[in-house]
Amino acid sequence: MKEVSGSDRSLVITLKTFYGFEDVLKEELAELGFPDAIKLNRAVQITGTWRDVYYLNVHLRCALSVLVQVKKFRIRDEDDLYTQAMKIDWTKYFDVKKTFAVKGAVYSDFFKHSQYPFLLVKDAIVDTFRKNLNDRPDVNTKKPQVMFDVYINNKEVTISLNTSGAPLFQRGYRDEAGLAPMNEVAAAGLIRMSGWDRKSTFVDPFCGSGTFLIEAALMAANLPATLERHHFAFKNFANFDEEIWDDIQNAIPKRITELPCLIVGSDKNAEMVMKARRNLRRLPIGRFVKVNADSFQESKSPAESGVMITNPPYGERMGDEIEELYEELGDWMKTEMQGFSCWIVSSNMEAFKFVGLRPDRKVKVFNGSLECSFRKYEIYAGSKKAKHQEQPDESES
Ligand SMILES: C[S@@+](CC[C@H](N)C(=O)[O-])C[C@H]1O[C@@H](n2cnc3c(N)ncnc32)[C@H](O)[C@@H]1O
Repeated sequence: MKEVSGSDRSLVITLKTFYGFEDVLKEELAELGFPDAIKLNRAVQITGTWRDVYYLNVHLRCALSVLVQVKKFRIRDEDDLYTQAMKIDWTKYFDVKKTFAVKGAVYSDFFKHSQYPFLLVKDAIVDTFRKNLNDRPDVNTKKPQVMFDVYINNKEVTISLNTSGAPLFQRGYRDEAGLAPMNEVAAAGLIRMSGWDRKSTFVDPFCGSGTFLIEAALMAANLPATLERHHFAFKNFANFDEEIWDDIQNAIPKRITELPCLIVGSDKNAEMVMKARRNLRRLPIGRFVKVNADSFQESKSPAESGVMITNPPYGERMGDEIEELYEELGDWMKTEMQGFSCWIVSSNMEAFKFVGLRPDRKVKVFNGSLECSFRKYEIYAGSKKAKHQEQPDESES
């Protein structure tokens, strides 16, 4: 296993994300100094060093996990996976006292059962340890200390170290969630997609547990979203370099004296407002974000211009209540949010029609496993824009 401190930039690093967020992840990487990323399906790839791996785990907002390629090979049949995996010296990656798990994704006719390839690789890992050290590490599928990723596309297998472990949307700031929380990685991706400049006013009138507000405030303060996350699988690898880790941690500012913009949220449910405030309090940006216990109907715009990003209730089934809510939201945006770029994310495509405004942009995205549309409504100041029914046949871009 490579020394962490080496400057060899030859590690193949794959950053996984949700469908629809590949471009914003690429953009984010370019901003962090990795301009040559290659876009893949639900992932982006770069080459780099182990220092980069630590740094990206901490600083990327739009990635789900950071993988480092161990080996890429072709297989002839099912059994060949075990044979090839036995050629890897697994003992150099972690010590026998650490627990591990093998997970991944399989798109291949070779395997009838989707979990079987992971079992084969798990067996190869255990057998290699037994052969070389006469001992074996334990498997822990729920909370493994070390995680391997197996990706099979037809005959091509890629085995990687999952250097993040638990997905990076587990930021560590949220104990308190509502019933339908926004995924943190998706929230950060949507904020980036909206083009918010991190200086102008940011509003979420259905803030729930505060995911958009928190992600926006962390961006505005230039603080990593993983500030309160302490677990990263790379800390359990044989080559973990504490000095480099400390360097990366020490470069993060500890105190924030102000935010460059106003960030305001509201929710009609007082309990949700308490949750949002509790989540915010865990972070150094917490005291700069305002959360009000108001329904959007009684909220006033806090500024003359800015960006609104929100996910209103999706509603299980269409009903008068949801229709009315989206209709009132459209009306409210027209009167209260003049001068704002208003973005709504929802999985309820029918409900969108009741907003009654033509979207300036529509993007298909995923909030976790839920397919959603993210729509922009530019509400011009003093707009006389006629309210009309949205054309349902407009395609997503
Ligand atoms: C899908 S959740 C938002 C989740 C939030 N983004 C999060 O990450 O936790 C929708 C929220 O809208 C709130 N809500 C419903 N009707 C409302 C209204 N008329 N005004 C303001 N909030 C409302 C609910 O209390 C709920 O918290």
